[in-house]
This record gives sequence, structure tokens and C-alpha cells, in this order.
Amino acid sequence: MTETTHPLATIPREELLSRAEADPLRPRFHFVSPAGWLNDPNGVSQWKGTYHLFYQYNPEGAFHHRIQWGHATSKDLVTWIDQPVALEPSAGPDAEGCWSGVLVNDGGTPTLVYSGRFEDQELPCVAVGSPDLLEWTKDPRNPVIKAPPAGVDITAYRDHCVWREGSTWRQLVGSGIRHRGGTAFLYESNDLRSWDYVGPLVIGDASQGDPSDTDWTGTMWECVDLFRAGEGSLGSAAAADSPDVLVFSAWDDGETRHPLYWTGRYSGDTFEPEALHRLDYGGRFFYAPQSFQDDSGRRIMFGWMQEGRSEAAAVESGWSGVMSLPRLTTVAKDGTLEFAPVPEIGKLRRNHISVPAQVLVGAGTPATTAVSGNQLDLELDVQLAPGAEIRLGVLASADGAEQTVIVLSRDADGTPTGSLRLDRTRSSLDSAVDVEDKSGPLPMTDGRVRLRVLVDRSAVEIFANGKPLTARIYPTLGGEGVSLAATEGSVRLLSFDAWTMAGVFEETRSLLPERK
Ligand code: FRU
Repeated sequence: MTETTHPLATIPREELLSRAEADPLRPRFHFVSPAGWLNDPNGVSQWKGTYHLFYQYNPEGAFHHRIQWGHATSKDLVTWIDQPVALEPSAGPDAEGCWSGVLVNDGGTPTLVYSGRFEDQELPCVAVGSPDLLEWTKDPRNPVIKAPPAGVDITAYRDHCVWREGSTWRQLVGSGIRHRGGTAFLYESNDLRSWDYVGPLVIGDASQGDPSDTDWTGTMWECVDLFRAGEGSLGSAAAADSPDVLVFSAWDDGETRHPLYWTGRYSGDTFEPEALHRLDYGGRFFYAPQSFQDDSGRRIMFGWMQEGRSEAAAVESGWSGVMSLPRLTTVAKDGTLEFAPVPEIGKLRRNHISVPAQVLVGAGTPATTAVSGNQLDLELDVQLAPGAEIRLGVLASADGAEQTVIVLSRDADGTPTGSLRLDRTRSSLDSAVDVEDKSGPLPMTDGRVRLRVLVDRSAVEIFANGKPLTARIYPTLGGEGVSLAATEGSVRLLSFDAWTMAGVFEETRSLLPERK
């Protein structure tokens, strides 16, 4: 196979690491690739106590091309050790890229199921790992499914969710049926190599809603992830408060739209959807999520925090893409999912500051916070009167020219809902970056909101009563100010704790890490 230089490979390889490291916008406590490009989390798992995070990686530069599987391991989900690239394209069915997939335990053998890309199409491939998961051997029978289902006009076909029921493996491959909607095709196998096609598990309806809606289901479903939330496992009898959940990333004609999930019931060969939900109010900034159950039974999800700056700016900076913090995924009382960063992240907290409890009144004096920084963990407990609104500003420059604002508001009629909004209109003086508003409904009882905000330079993750809003921001002035003010009505600040967060990458990293 001849390798040609990609037109975007303008930065010499040996410069990528130093450029990436020097970028003040590069997060310090989120996982990022050593340099170059990162997208989806893959093969997320815990194996013999060690957490494994694989990811879509291009070490050639900060652009999507000839994708490999980067690999990092962790004992605590907080600090990560770079491991050698796990999968790399080779002559054959993955010659153009090793696209997204999962890791399963095949009777003690670590096994990857991924999408091999060749001649502009993706097909399911398998690789088996050494006991330490550091060396991978591709199966000579790849692709293990030779073609998408016959007779179906599909929009695309890739990405995998694989689980076992008794002695049978089941697999979903994400896809879309032209002129109908996104889907996940179901297959069955005894050995992960020879698969029987069962049928579509469920088919979306792309004609429903407006394509600009934040919950439009798209024309193709990327990175489908089916799991039982709460107690039990897929296919077993389920309690009413343990829904089955089908997560997918709505895609349309090359555009990565947003992650959504259906709650419902998986039984037999179908999934009966009950309700559709937005997974993250930041839309494409938490894309292609993948989850797993760890040894203690927790469901943990990672997502790809895409860039909101131009491709040219990313290429110049030497790196692109951030992995979200691992999120604990649980079921709320209303049957929707709730998220929080795993508690282990608390290990990185330093320099605790507590802002005194007080009542804030609309257009009154802002609280003095004494909190500042660009690597922060902020935890607030507030109670909003009907019609009240509170604004938490972060990454504010001293002159006020730049500021990113988290806005919580409560409906005036006293109903138990309000909204969470991220106002990025003044987040950057760089006119080329995405500053579109992101928002979503915020359930609240008696106006009470528990807010957690993690700021890591250009990466922001917000959790309000368990509803996440993830985004990227690109301040140019290096501002670190934090402010809090009620802008409407009255808000009781019950508690406000703040910490600066330590970084997780101490040593110099390598683009192509050696085994450790
Ligand atoms: C989602 C996705 C997947 C695909 C991978 C390629 O972001 O497009 O559908 O497998 O990225 O890198």
C-alpha cells in the first residue's frame, strides 16, 4: 500500500507535540490524544481491574484521516497512561481506517469488533488481544460481515454494540434506511465471526420534526449503544424503573448532529421505544458516546467533545478533539437518564474556596466570589424563586470583553421546570469560532438546582440536576474570572464550593507510545 501525504499534513510530525503542548486552549485534566486528531471513544471497558480507553486517532495531524485506535489505560479513571496504538490500517478491509467499535470478553479473550474502512465503505471486523490488551491480531476472515443487508437502500453502515445473551452473541450495526430514517441492524452469532442477520431493531422516522430541531433523529445512527439502565442485563426480566436505553448519534449526510436516546423495552428481536430524549444539551459537543459497566456495576459513559474552531485553526495548533470526563449514568425518578462526572475526578481538586451562602436579588449586587482560574470544578446549590434567573460567568477577562455564561432560570408560573442555557456569544473575540447558544429544559423541584461546572480551558462540562450541557470555548484573552449574579427575581445561594483542578499529564508524551 502506498502512503500519500494528506494535504492537511502541513505541520511536521516532530512539531505536533510541542505545538499541542504550547496551546493555552488545550485541556489539562481531560484526556486528549498526545497530539494530532482524536474523535470517538472506543472499546471503553474495565479488564482485570484496569480501565481501557481506546479512541479514534490520527497521529499524522489534527484532521480526520487514516484513523487508528489510540489506547490509554487507567487505574482510577483520572490519570491515563498512553499505550501503543492498538489498531492501525493495513492492506485489506481496514486499509482506509479502523473506525469505531467495542471491546468484548470472549471467554477470557479480549476481542475488538470495529468498522474496517475500505473503498469508502465500512464493514465489521474483529481483532483479538494479548492478555494485557496491548497487542492485537486481526482475524483473517475480516470483514466478518461481507456486506450490509441485501435489498435495503442504506445511507451508511458502521459502528457496533455487541453483547451476550446466554451462549449467543448479539450485535447492532448503526445505519439508516434511505427515505425512512436511522436504524440499528441486529445480528446474531455463536463465535463473533459468523453472523446471521436478524433485522432492524427499530427504525427512526426522519420525516418527523424539523431537521433543524435539537432532537431530530437524522438519516443515519452512528455509534449505537444499547444497555439496560438500572438493575439487570439486556434480555432479562426488567423492573419498571430499569428501562432499556438505545443511545445513538444522529447523523445526516456527513453532518454530526447530536446524541439522543430512546428509553423503551428491548425484547425478542425488537426495541419498543417509549420516549426520545436529548442526551446532552451541547449537541455535537458530546458526540458518539459509548458506555460500559465497570467491575462495581456502574454504567460509565465517555463522549467526544468536538472542536468549535475552524479546521485550519485546529491543524495549526497540532491537536484536535477532547474526551469527556467519564460520566456516571443513572436513572432519574422520571425514567430519564442522569449524569455526573465519576466521583474519582474529585481527586484532582485543590485549593478549596467556599463562597458564603446568601440571597441574590435580580439586578442587585453580584456575589463576590474570589474564585478564578481556567481549570476549575464549581459546585453550587441554589434555589430560584418563580421567574428568577441566575448567571454564572466563567473565563471572564478583566476588561469584561470576554466571558462565558451559564444561565439557570425558573419559569414564572411556578411549574417544576426551567431552563439551562450556555451563553457563548461573548466567549471569544475570535469571530471564526462556534458561539451558538446551547440550552435545554431543566427539571427542578421548588426551584432547587444542583449545578456542577467543570472548566478545563477550552472544554466545559455542565451538569444541572443531572442534565448535561457540554461545549467548547475559545477565549483569546486568557481571562480567568468567575462571577455570580441574579439577573431576575430572587435566588438563594445555599452553597458554592470551588476548587482548582490539577492536570493529569505530567510527562512528555509520545505520538506513537511504547508499551509501559
Ligand atoms: C462518529 C464516527 C463513526 C465512525 C468514526 C470514524 O463520530 O463518524 O460513525 O466509526 O466516527 O472516525
